[in-house]
Amino acid sequence: MTKNCLVTGCAGFIGSHLTQTLLDAGHSVVGVDNFASGYVHNMEGFRNHAGFSFYEKSITEDGLLTDLKQTHPELDVVFQLAAVVSVPYSVEHPELTMQVNFEANRDMLDAAQKLGISRFVFAGSAAEYGNEDRLPVKEEYADEAEQLSPYGVAKYQSSAYIAQSGYGCSLRFFNIFGPRQDPTSQYSGVISRFVDFGLAGKNMVIFGDGEQTRDFLYVSDVVTSYLIAAGLDGQGRGPLTGVYNVGTGRGRSVRELATVIAGLTSAPEEIDFKPERAGDIKHSCADVSKISAEGFVAEVSFEDGLGRTVEWAGKS
Ligand SMILES: NC(=O)c1ccc[n+]([C@@H]2O[C@H](COP(=O)([O-])OP(=O)(O)OC[C@H]3O[C@@H](n4cnc5c(N)ncnc54)[C@H](O)[C@@H]3O)[C@@H](O)[C@H]2O)c1
Repeated sequence: MTKNCLVTGCAGFIGSHLTQTLLDAGHSVVGVDNFASGYVHNMEGFRNHAGFSFYEKSITEDGLLTDLKQTHPELDVVFQLAAVVSVPYSVEHPELTMQVNFEANRDMLDAAQKLGISRFVFAGSAAEYGNEDRLPVKEEYADEAEQLSPYGVAKYQSSAYIAQSGYGCSLRFFNIFGPRQDPTSQYSGVISRFVDFGLAGKNMVIFGDGEQTRDFLYVSDVVTSYLIAAGLDGQGRGPLTGVYNVGTGRGRSVRELATVIAGLTSAPEEIDFKPERAGDIKHSCADVSKISAEGFVAEVSFEDGLGRTVEWAGKS
């Protein structure tokens, strides 16, 4: 059965992939974005699709969902991806970060419930765990964590609000990568940098010993997790309620990343090591048993995902 979905942040990296997949599956999409970090060119593939309507608005606008529901009464699923996405920016603008990443989300969730919208899915983050030593990281650790930035605090407050409400779901993403990724992203910006070095035939540059690890997930698998969360995957998985980690459950070292990308490009095998940057977390990896029990499996391998990303970067 096709649905009418709201995607906030539809001009962003993940939101544009989600929107395209929903439209390809026959759903209609109402997109909202204020271009704070998204781009019109990310929407090229669907900007003129008959099933897509776009509103250049901020999710902080009063009564936004109520107004959209009046224009689109069949709206039944909300994917709330719009957010202040930069951690350093959140440190400089803590009030705006709380408004966008917590208050707007809380208000949208309350409104969705009142309006009888059947599914609500929020983009949580590994930043909700702060500097967690226990690995892999389980969902409940965030309740004892000290988040390191207003970004992490606001994301955690949103997830906690969703968990308490018993309505909707928060997907806590770790490090997502793929085509259209913003090279300045704190999550996977390292991938864009390595791809740039590789395509330019330059040595990879690593800060620290390269043994720091991250849980990297390819963007199409993220989209699958969204479809499961909303009960729209066409295979009967989901819908989900509560908080779920989304990752591969496997940490990959930055050195491994550099080696794979060097192999996919013309980069020399030699790596330049620079001093470690203060504040970098050494290891991060999701415990994915909760979402795996719901049938989620990361399907795109690390190597294939990097191959697709390099191919896209070479063309763009
Ligand atoms: N990329 C990752 O690895 C990662 C990891 C964890 C969580 N997340 C979360 O996933 C979501 C999507 O992230 P992304 O990587 O696609 O980032 P992105 O910056 O590409 O996308 C965010 C989109 O939201 C829009 N936006 C920002 N503030 C807005 C507002 N007030 N009103 C309307 N639109 C607004 C931006 O213009 C942008 O298009 C975010 O909530 C982010 O916190 C991403």
